[in-house]
Formats: sequence, structure tokens, C-alpha cells
Amino acid sequence: VKKFLTFLIAAACWGAAGIAAAAAAGSIEDLRPAFLLTASPSRDTQDLSGQWTYSKDLYRTGLNDINGWVAKSRMQRYRDLDVAALEAQGGTDFFEFDLDRGPAMAVPGAWNAARPELRYYDGLVWFQRKFQSKPLNGGRAFLRFEAVNYRAYVYLNGKEIGRHEGGFTPFVLEVTDALREGGNRLSVGVDSSHDAQTIPTVITDWDLYGGITRPVRLVYTPATFIDDATLSLKPDGRIAGELRLQGPQAARQNVSVTIAGLATASAVTDAGGRAVFDIAAPAGLQRWSPDSPRLYDVRYAAAGDAVRDRIGFRTIAVKGRQILLNGKPIFLRGISLHEEEFGPNPARNMTEPAARALLHEIKHGLNANYVRLSHYPHSEVTLRLADEMGLLVWSEIPVYWSVDWDNPAVLRKALAMQAEAIYRDRGRASVVMWSVGNETPVSAPRTRFHSAMADNVRALDPTRLVSAALLVERRKVNGEDVTAIDDPLAAKLDVLAVNTYAGWYGSDTLDALPGLKWQVPPDRPLILSEFGADALAGYRNDGNKKFTEEYQAEYYRKTLAMADAMPTLAGMSPWILKDFQSPRREHPVFQNGWNRKGLLSETGVRKQAFGVLADYYRGKAAK
Ligand code: GCU
Repeated sequence: VKKFLTFLIAAACWGAAGIAAAAAAGSIEDLRPAFLLTASPSRDTQDLSGQWTYSKDLYRTGLNDINGWVAKSRMQRYRDLDVAALEAQGGTDFFEFDLDRGPAMAVPGAWNAARPELRYYDGLVWFQRKFQSKPLNGGRAFLRFEAVNYRAYVYLNGKEIGRHEGGFTPFVLEVTDALREGGNRLSVGVDSSHDAQTIPTVITDWDLYGGITRPVRLVYTPATFIDDATLSLKPDGRIAGELRLQGPQAARQNVSVTIAGLATASAVTDAGGRAVFDIAAPAGLQRWSPDSPRLYDVRYAAAGDAVRDRIGFRTIAVKGRQILLNGKPIFLRGISLHEEEFGPNPARNMTEPAARALLHEIKHGLNANYVRLSHYPHSEVTLRLADEMGLLVWSEIPVYWSVDWDNPAVLRKALAMQAEAIYRDRGRASVVMWSVGNETPVSAPRTRFHSAMADNVRALDPTRLVSAALLVERRKVNGEDVTAIDDPLAAKLDVLAVNTYAGWYGSDTLDALPGLKWQVPPDRPLILSEFGADALAGYRNDGNKKFTEEYQAEYYRKTLAMADAMPTLAGMSPWILKDFQSPRREHPVFQNGWNRKGLLSETGVRKQAFGVLADYYRGKAAK
């Protein structure tokens, strides 16, 4: 609290201009969550996925009563009570909830897909799951939530153990002292509502998806444990990294890392439990790339604890107008993707088979080597599959369209959300770019906000590139219609990226697209982070009208011809692989709540444009 008050006082003293400085100056350590448990997939865990009971709470009376009074105990959903037994005893007490006898739904997954009456529910829902835990024998236990959209209020056996804001990043709460032998009651209040100070704010072009949308696991560790460990390949060929121990024996501990078949190293933790690795360039290292996604089994050991990971080693850099992967220029043949599984009623439940089905279409259907995981951090499952299958990744947090740019608390949220995403994914070879925003209108406060985010990325992870999906300006230059980037944020980026929809939004005809003139910096790599057109799968041959497959296919042909005339173009991620749900898209014939810019329908039916892009990428790959 003291640090945060200092930050706020500093921000108030310096006013808006100081906000970015104060935030950027704020210690990176402040943004580091108390616990990460990044290597938990290799740990002793208990998966709490399954049927959870739930109770709607539209007026949030389980949290607080009218006039801000404390919630009435008869409505406090998280209480550790056997309501039926108490009722059987009679007496004056009564209750207006009972999660033991409530309806149930599958967790993980959004409630909007679970029940027709919850399809457009946007507010607070309480969930409950009972579970047996193992004796700890001096060890420790944590709950790791992979994601809860949007706010989480977590109680164990009637005791509040923590809260979290942000719908797409993991959080870890220690439950060592709250667990009990014989049986535990886990209650989670999930509030999906957004407002002008959330990230994102209320209006987005994707659906609500409220709920515990990713797995929840009970993670067991020794008293002193490895909280985080990471390695990366440096430009000089050495392998560097760090390991963090937490617990009573964290200081001055010998730690070791073994990269199977390649190298071993050891180090000693400092007083804070941090050890640094610096490994000489190993002979015979096979670098990771989309064509050869070589992953190494890595084992970290320290203080009697050990965790494992699978790491790919590669370098990424920019040089003039080129993006260099392992020192060689690469063209990013990509596509954009929302986190939504194939099917008519997606619950944003990204299981490995669901993620594999999507990434398979990208890698093998489209001949792509790159995916823009928009507009928020996707599931860890997807990132690990991108590592395994060989897809480069653009990652972003949902600083999208409009944000309360001048609000220090909102900036803090964005920086913390970035940190949670970067700490989770900085070990993934596939991630090569962190984006700091999407289509945000240029203003001084907005550019300061994004600049602080860019500084934050570079402080947290100097090994990757920084980008942002910028809006373009259309203007007349010497009487010619020119599309230009006119955004002061560009100076803070390693890779320029723009969303452009000429031929769909606006009055450009498709025939005009190949001749469109661009005015962009000549010495910087540029990515077309979005372009696209709607098409209803199966709506065909209606004279090249919008929403037909023919129009979308011709839009792609003409836009790709425009792209071929852009000398600094280093990649693209057209919008979008698959039709996705959006409450903004309500044409009763063509849309019905779906954004139809997918190259595939929501059930995976390929549209004509899919083949146009696949052929284009096949040609690119051959060069
Ligand atoms: C924007 C935005 C997307 C949106 C797309 C569209 O570029 O970034 O989130 O879905 O346009 O209009 O379909």
C-alpha cells in the first residue's frame, strides 16, 4: 500500500505528464505477483475442473448490501455452512442461498454458453466446488487460477483468501493455512461486468464470456520452492536466465539447471532467493524456428525442489525494414485468432484438442508461420502448442479502442496485466512480440499511457519486440489518395503494425485496392495486423455483393496485390481465422451475433477466401 500511495502522490504531483514517468519509474518488482508458480504443469497438482454449483447474484448482495452496508449473512454465498442441515434444525435463522443444492455447470467455461438463461448475463455469479486435499507434511499449497473473467473474489472454507482483476492472466493464492483435513469448500465470486476504468472497457467486438474460463488447480510445493525459472538465448549465443526460490530456505541455495543433451549449469541464490544463469554457447544447439520447432527438456533443481519445462532457443530482432529470426529475415505469414473453440456455442473453453484444431488449420491449412493471439493473452495451452507446432506469436493485453488514459489506477492495472502475461509466457519461444494496444485514437494521454506500457515491456522482457496495432490516416498528398501512419507512438515501437479495411469499411472499390498508395517510414518493418471482410459461409454467386464468399475471396486477392506493392511489409495477420461471437453484429440474415470475417465458419467450414490466402502463403513460403 505504501509503495502504491507513493506512486499516486508522485503521479498527482507531476500531473498527467508524470503518470507515465511515475509508472515506468515504479519498480518492476512492484508489478511482480506474490506467487507465479510458472512451471506448475510439471508439479504435483490437483485439477479442480469439473461440475461446480453456482448461484446468480445480479445485485451483488452476496458482497455488499444496499447503501454499501455489509452483506446480510443470509445472502453471503461464500459462508461455510450446511444450509440444509441448519434448516432441518428449525429456528429463526433462514437463508436466501444454498450453493450445496444449487444448479451446476462445467468449469472451466463461460456461463454464457452453459445455460440459455445465462446467455447474456453480465454481472456477479458465485461458484462452489468441494474437494479433499492431501496432508501437507510441512509443505505448502496454492490455488492457481489460469483465468477468471473479469473479477474474482476467492473464499476457502468461508475465509476470504484473495481477489483478482483481469480476465485473461493467471493468479496464485496461498491456501496453506486455510486448507482443512476432511474436506474443503471453495467459493468464488465471478463478476463479468466492465466499466470505464476496466481493461478492456465496456464495448468490445467480442462476446461477454463471463466465468472461470480456464482451469483451476491446487498446487502442492515444499516449504521452500522454485516459484519461477526461465532461460533464453542471447544474441551472442550464450544462454541466460534466472530462477526464483521462495520460502524459509530461499537464500544462498545451490541451484542447477539441466538442458537435456545440451548443457548443465549451477548457481547460488542471493539473499532474495534469486539465482542467475549464464551458460556458454552450447555446441550443437538446434535453434527453434517454425520450420524446425526444436524444444529441449529442461530441469531446474534447488533446495530439494525440482520443476521441468520445455524450452525452444531462438533470437528475434529487427534490422532496418526486416524482422530477423535467428539472424535471418523472415516474412510473418499469419492470421489473427480470438480465443474461441470451433462449434456453434463456444464457451471459450480452450482444451488442448480445441487449440490444436485451430492451430492445425493455421499451420497446415493456411501454410502460416505466425499467429496474432488477439486481443488478450490466450490460454497457456495455446502458447505451448505454438511452441510445439512452430508458430510465431504476437501477444497483447486488451488495451483496446478506448481506455481511461489519464487515470493512474488504470495505467497500473495495464502494467500489472502486462507483467502477469509476460511472467507467464516469457519462456515460450513462439512469443516474439508484445503489443501495447489496438486501434486507440491518438491523443497525448493515450500516447503517454502506451509509452509507459512499452517501457514496462522492455524492462520486464528485453529479449522480444514491441509493437501496437495502429489506426491509419487517409489523406490527399499532391492530389493523390494516400494511406499513412501518423502516430507519435510509432517512435516507441520496434515493429509498426496497422489495421486497414479499405474495400470493406468505407467506399473503396475492390479494383482500387492494388493501386492504393501508402506513406510509411522507409526503414522500419511494417505488419498488416488486420485486414478482412465478412462472408456468410455458403452465401454465394450473388453478383459479388458484400457478405458473399466471392466478395470476400476477391477482397483478399486485391488486398494481397496491394500488400505486394508495400516495400517495407514484413508480415500480416488478416482478420481472422474463424467467425466469432460479437454482440455488435446483429444482421438477421448474415450475422446473428457473429462477426463473419472468418476464413472459416464457426463450425470450421472453409470459405473460398481460405484457399486464396493459403495459396498466397504457399507461394511466399517457396521463396
Ligand atoms: C477492428 C478490431 C477488431 C474487430 C474488427 C472488425 O480492427 O481490431 O477487434 O473485430 O475491426 O471490425 O471486424
